[in-house]
Amino acid sequence: MPNFEKKLMEPLTPRRKFITTSVKAGLGLYVGSGILSSCTSTNKATSNIPSSLATGFTQQPLPYAYNALIEAIDAQTMEIHYSKHAAAYATNLNDAAKAEGVDNSKPVEDVLRNISKYSAKMRNNGGGHFNHEFFWKCMSPQSAGKPSGNLATAIDSSFGSFDTFKIQFSDAGKNRFGSGWAWLYADSNKVLKIGSTPNQDNPLMNLPGDSVIKGVPLLGIDVWEHAYYLKYQNKRADYVESWWNVVNWDYVQQSFEKI
Ligand SMILES: [Fe+2]
Repeated sequence: MPNFEKKLMEPLTPRRKFITTSVKAGLGLYVGSGILSSCTSTNKATSNIPSSLATGFTQQPLPYAYNALIEAIDAQTMEIHYSKHAAAYATNLNDAAKAEGVDNSKPVEDVLRNISKYSAKMRNNGGGHFNHEFFWKCMSPQSAGKPSGNLATAIDSSFGSFDTFKIQFSDAGKNRFGSGWAWLYADSNKVLKIGSTPNQDNPLMNLPGDSVIKGVPLLGIDVWEHAYYLKYQNKRADYVESWWNVVNWDYVQQSFEKI
């Protein structure tokens, strides 16, 4: 086995474990600070962003090894996706923030909720950075397999059953033409809905148009080809179906409870 592949298969080193633990602890403090509760917005649809979504402008360490989600996503895809594609969004976002006078010490969500005021570079890379930071947290090697508690009840209420929800969400991802995302989100009335966005747009953005979905994202899947092509080639549907095995329902539940 090539050294590159061996490295990907190695378990977390003590240093990486420390980083991971530190990030989790930091995230907990960040969540506990309720930093977003002080944000004000005239956009009712996104005024109650859960603090679990507070995202900085800097790419955070991946909370698991590149091969941790191998049941759905191969290690090489994870490494390229995280260290190349997602890293570039973070770099370009900070370039745009500097050029457009954005305070990068505040949550990215502040920019996204007012994205119509900014450039296309800010929209593409602000969305790209947020979406990927969110995406990593939406996955876990220890998936519960399905939601529970209040989230499960809300999904049943909105979609009839978990199985129906999965079909509709999967279809949103499979049918997204070109590159984009499928989302489970809560609208301004805290009703759960499914939708998709092109490119790196997301439901937080205050974009014009009747077809634009708006709300608080609770679960998202990246259906850009860079997310799956090495393993699945043109079979996006197979990637989406496998992805259910690594959904971090604890994180989705956490976000839902904080709306
Ligand atoms: Fe991606």
